[in-house]
Amino acid sequence: MIQSANPGLFSALTPQAPDPLLSLIGLFKADERAHKLDLGVGIYRDETGATPVMRAMKAAERKLVEEQPSKSYLGPEGDVGFVRLSAELAMGEQAEGLIGVQTPGGTGALRLAIALIRLARPDATVWLGTPSWPIHANILDSVGLKTRTYRHYDPATGAVDFSALTTALNEAQAGDVVLLHACCHNPSGADLSAEQWAEVTRLVTTRGLFPLIDMAYQGLGDSLDQDAAGARQLVAAVPEALIAYSCDKNFGLYRDRVGALFAKTAHAEATESNLHGLARVFWSMPPDHGAAAARIILETPELRAQWLDELDHMRERLNGVRQALAEAHPALAPLAIQRGMFSILPLSPEQVGVMRRDHAIYMAGSGRINLAGLTLETVPQFVSAFTAVLSS
Ligand code: LMR
Repeated sequence: MIQSANPGLFSALTPQAPDPLLSLIGLFKADERAHKLDLGVGIYRDETGATPVMRAMKAAERKLVEEQPSKSYLGPEGDVGFVRLSAELAMGEQAEGLIGVQTPGGTGALRLAIALIRLARPDATVWLGTPSWPIHANILDSVGLKTRTYRHYDPATGAVDFSALTTALNEAQAGDVVLLHACCHNPSGADLSAEQWAEVTRLVTTRGLFPLIDMAYQGLGDSLDQDAAGARQLVAAVPEALIAYSCDKNFGLYRDRVGALFAKTAHAEATESNLHGLARVFWSMPPDHGAAAARIILETPELRAQWLDELDHMRERLNGVRQALAEAHPALAPLAIQRGMFSILPLSPEQVGVMRRDHAIYMAGSGRINLAGLTLETVPQFVSAFTAVLSS
């Protein structure tokens, strides 16, 4: 080998810890205990613990395979039919006049949104309620945008810390960006009530703030429309907004990476062309298959009805587990007022470790559980482990 004075390009890199959420997948797989429970990464599981492809999706995929005439390039905007129909699904009447691009999942939509904000206003400040999905802060850091945080969730009540939120919005300066979860808050399940959305809308409009809405769990809280109602009201009231949408959960398309970014703006041509330019640099164009299949579901009445049925069932199952947990232990009672796949349990990182080591129960280090990892049959097993660890 030729010796060189150059230590090598990558010698400056330091090893990074694996993503704590995604690494739970491997840890769980390697655990040989038969009674193990996976409450880690946010995927829906059915009563048998499986994450099957939805039946409507299977049918749409068959149709796609039969009928798709070509796989030639579509362009950075992706499948425009999917973008239009998913915008209508997300925003209802507010979809009128929105521009949109298809993205690789909700993460792609957020990455694109934050890049666009950085491009438009490099000195923007983004307000982020904590805790949040950890990748929000990671993306903001990677892009170098200033971030201010406030407390989103009050562990004492299990609800939104609304006074912290309104204090933050009152302190924010005109033009600052506010990142809000549309529904099924990840990781806390603590959503804004209709009255709180109305007050947030008032503050965002009067103070001239820019909403960036993350909508990754529509349909898994109360209903497709109720889960979107607050975000739609806000978008209706402001002159400009960005909505990062994910179909990964409500269409069960996780690994196919299906999402979209919608923008409300008076500068449609410039915004759209910059989105296309950024997308071209990031991923050239988004992966087609899952989005085309989701489009087929949305445009085919029978498949749409079947998908809605399946989604209703998923939500009802989640809410059933939520209710059972809330009734099983006083420390779990706040779960009843929360929505979606997640809740944060009052466990320290050490106690989360004991849950894993002694009880084969896997959850995020923050104490977040994915309720879809439980069934009405396994709730007692979970509650007995939780009770033991809480009192130890
Ligand atoms: C989660 O929070 O578990 C999901 O959104 C999956 C992910 O990408 O982190």
